Amino acid sequence: MSIQAPKGTKDLLPKDSHKWHFLENNFRNLAKEYGCSEIRTPMFENTELFTRGVGETTDVVQKEMYTFFDKGDRSITLKPEGTAPTVRAFIENTLYNDAQPTKLFYIIPAFRYEKMQKGRLRQFHQFGVEVFGAEEASIDAEMISLSMRAFSDLGIKGLELNINSIGCPSCRKVFNEALQKYLKANYDNLCETCKVRFEKNPMRILDCKNKNCKEIVKGAPSILDYLCDECEEHFDKLKSYLTAMDIDYKIDPLIVRGLDYYTKTVFEIIQKDITVCGGGRYDGLIEEIGGPSLPAFGFAIGIERLIMTLEEEGIELPRENPIDLFVASMDETSKIQSLKLVNELRKKGLKCEINHMKRNVKAQMKYSNKIEASYTIVLGETEIQTKTAKLKRMSDGEQFEINLDNLKEIFEKLV
Ligand code: HAM
Repeated sequence: MSIQAPKGTKDLLPKDSHKWHFLENNFRNLAKEYGCSEIRTPMFENTELFTRGVGETTDVVQKEMYTFFDKGDRSITLKPEGTAPTVRAFIENTLYNDAQPTKLFYIIPAFRYEKMQKGRLRQFHQFGVEVFGAEEASIDAEMISLSMRAFSDLGIKGLELNINSIGCPSCRKVFNEALQKYLKANYDNLCETCKVRFEKNPMRILDCKNKNCKEIVKGAPSILDYLCDECEEHFDKLKSYLTAMDIDYKIDPLIVRGLDYYTKTVFEIIQKDITVCGGGRYDGLIEEIGGPSLPAFGFAIGIERLIMTLEEEGIELPRENPIDLFVASMDETSKIQSLKLVNELRKKGLKCEINHMKRNVKAQMKYSNKIEASYTIVLGETEIQTKTAKLKRMSDGEQFEINLDNLKEIFEKLV
């Protein structure tokens, strides 16, 4: 049997690559509009970065990481997300000595050993942004605006922005105690995972997908009633900034996010029940990973989920014309001429092809049609002798007489 790609991975095929190029360019330009610069970190990191950064009790760390020992007996993990690696690079390269805030974006593959279902892959890709050093709620609002535009600029409609505040460690402590008090009566009915969460991270029980747990949390206290003054003011400001930017949102006190590092603002963007983007503030992570005490905010968009949304909405992304010119040739002399011609035109940025197969002219023309060349030239003995040829526009069959020595004229006809 032939070897297949590992479960949960996908090949990017030529017919789809234009979508990725378009979306990557789009995201790069958008992130730059908000003053972000690109950062690239390694595909793998020391495992400890994620156990400390993402959190020991999270599903990502407990169940989903691709971890292995390398030949030097070091525990290595393929990155399951981009935040912890970006924080690690920020600290290691002392970027905190530059003018703050530091605004970074990335386009990465990420790896999680997850159960397969719609929109869930084991190797997937993210567009992400991380901002370090800014404590004001205005950065939360601007980053949320950036993330929304990554969808709305493409014409995607029906986006739901859900926001919440999960407070800082001090107000969360009081909330967790109140939550535990409430959940205690139903402890035996919680799922096994939530029984562990009850002790270690009770807030995570709020977004458990188990039916029983969902029922139990319906009457649970809301974190929003427990925010300290500072966290409440931050959340109020965020809401007023979003309103000022005409960004519609819904407050959902059940959003807690699956990664441990969040403080204050958390948010998710949902499109037809699929979470296409998630993020929030994480003011303690930089210090946790060994850096200075600096606030941070970020988000990540799942690229495959973004593409899935575009397809479901019937939104076509612009596709470049694959080939500008195909030069067919009848014999060896004209083939040499075709090589020379395309060599020069490519230097001017045109996409050109010649014949590389044992095909007669008719078959070459058929091929030119198949690859959707915009123009075709056929070179034979007569064309070489007269140094003239016919440039055929494939869309309507119209032909233009060209002088093979006048590259400038040919180029101008083609663009
Ligand atoms: P996350 O919510 O785990 O957050 O992932 C962000 C997005 O990546 C999700 O909303 C989803 O679109 C996509 N995604 C996650 N897992 C998969 C999967 N298995 N298959 C396909 N797509 C997936 C983070 O990763 C945080 N680092 C976001 C962040 C940045 N928070 C602060 N800064």
